Amino acid sequence: MLRLRSLAAACAPCHGTDGHAVAGATLPGLAGMPASDFTAQMTGFKSGARPATVMTQLARGFSDAQIEQMARFFAAQPK
Ligand code: HEC
Repeated sequence: MLRLRSLAAACAPCHGTDGHAVAGATLPGLAGMPASDFTAQMTGFKSGARPATVMTQLARGFSDAQIEQMARFFAAQPK
């Protein structure tokens, strides 16, 4: 769980702590996103199927197993 939180902490500067979108920010929060949506987005960024600015490089830094773990973590966060 601790390691998982530190994976998620890498997302906090842009997507907010535990995926709670920063008030007034334009980026979507990740909290409460269904795990299947999250995984689809992240694998899309990784493969380049979903064009993105920063997320392409970022998603490539994670294994599929890490993406699955983060998907469950964010899906479990209250919105
Ligand atoms: C430097 C800022 C930054 C960081 C750090 C960052 N993101 Fe993102 N994220 C973005 C931007 C910008 C977008 C919009 C797509 C794009 O242009 O890359 C995005 C989009 C997303 C989306 C798609 C949301 C949607 O509903 O369309 C997901 C999922 C996502 N990020 C997950 C993550 C995860 C997981 C992490 C941490 C491992 C993370 N992001 C870290 C900037 C960031």
